Amino acid sequence: MRTWVAPGRVNIIGEHTDYNDGFVLPIALPLVTRCAAETTVGGLVRVESRQRPGEAVRAEVDELAAARDRLPGWARYPLGVVAEFVRRGHSVPGLMLELDGAVPIGAGLSSSAALSCSVAIALRDLCAPSVADRELIDIARAAENDFAGAPTGVLDQSAAVLCTAGHALFLDVRRFTAGASGYEQIPFDLAAFGLQLLVIDTGQPHELVDGGYARRRDQCEAAAAELGVPALRDVAAEADLARIADTVCRRRARHVVTENARVVAVAEKLRQGADPREIGPILVAGHASLRDDFEVSTAALDTAVAAALDAGAHGARMVGGGFGGSAIALVDRERTEAVAAAVGERFARSGLAEPRTFVVVPADGARRES
Ligand code: GLA
Repeated sequence: MRTWVAPGRVNIIGEHTDYNDGFVLPIALPLVTRCAAETTVGGLVRVESRQRPGEAVRAEVDELAAARDRLPGWARYPLGVVAEFVRRGHSVPGLMLELDGAVPIGAGLSSSAALSCSVAIALRDLCAPSVADRELIDIARAAENDFAGAPTGVLDQSAAVLCTAGHALFLDVRRFTAGASGYEQIPFDLAAFGLQLLVIDTGQPHELVDGGYARRRDQCEAAAAELGVPALRDVAAEADLARIADTVCRRRARHVVTENARVVAVAEKLRQGADPREIGPILVAGHASLRDDFEVSTAALDTAVAAALDAGAHGARMVGGGFGGSAIALVDRERTEAVAAAVGERFARSGLAEPRTFVVVPADGARRES
């Protein structure tokens, strides 16, 4: 068997902008899901996961769509990818998949895209070498949306496939999905400035298959329709939002419009080689917008951000879809431990379970490992 890996991600800025045709700026994490795979004969796919001992699943390659409802939730991610390759006309003779995920599940670090993309890249190499990265990302997204039932945008899968070590990925979702290049690797070397990126996992599981994420998508679509634009990406000025009658939808739209501007501003600073400390206030504004306008933060995420800032972080914000999961903090290297300790103390004082903290650096996207 050969092995392939795909990473989790954190998004530096640009949350809930991807399904509004906007901008995102993720990095890939050193944490990966590993997929050992080989083709077999006989038309069966067998998948097992180190994290699900004794729960191996077996199904007919050509019957996956019909079998979907009886498959356990976790297996819908890898098998959804296989089903999507088949649906697109690629021939899969039979398959053995052994998965091992090191991206914490439910931490908002995109363990699901790490999983789906590790399988997708394995399948491409084994069965469909003509598939380009753009289609690979679309296959993984379709598997998650249609098969696993998680209505994600394209942020996580793009990060898992396209990111490169030492860089943040500036992705213009509309241009990228339309087939134009649409992305740029921007150097993101925090160490050169004596900085580190600290991830604070609140331990509150976040679940995209729940309704909150889908409701936000609907509200954004309703706001765009009311304004008569294809997507909120197309809103030229914040003032135009006054035409949205429903105040909740108006706030949702305001988050998206201001967040897109924040991505562009952060990308520009990094492109110019500015001291990354300068992006700190923009990250903080992004958190406030997710908390107040988009209402996807939680008390634990707010506590993490406030405690990190009080302890000297230059910027901090929740990352990912929200409703739990992780926050990031931009800290001076010599302050990292103090900030992590301060967050832990604040959690204890607030009666919250101990968070997990760790430092991350921008890593490579999905690749064959052996
Ligand atoms: C989740 C989704 C992404 C994106 C983020 C929010 O991670 O999977 O597509 O919408 O939430 O930015």
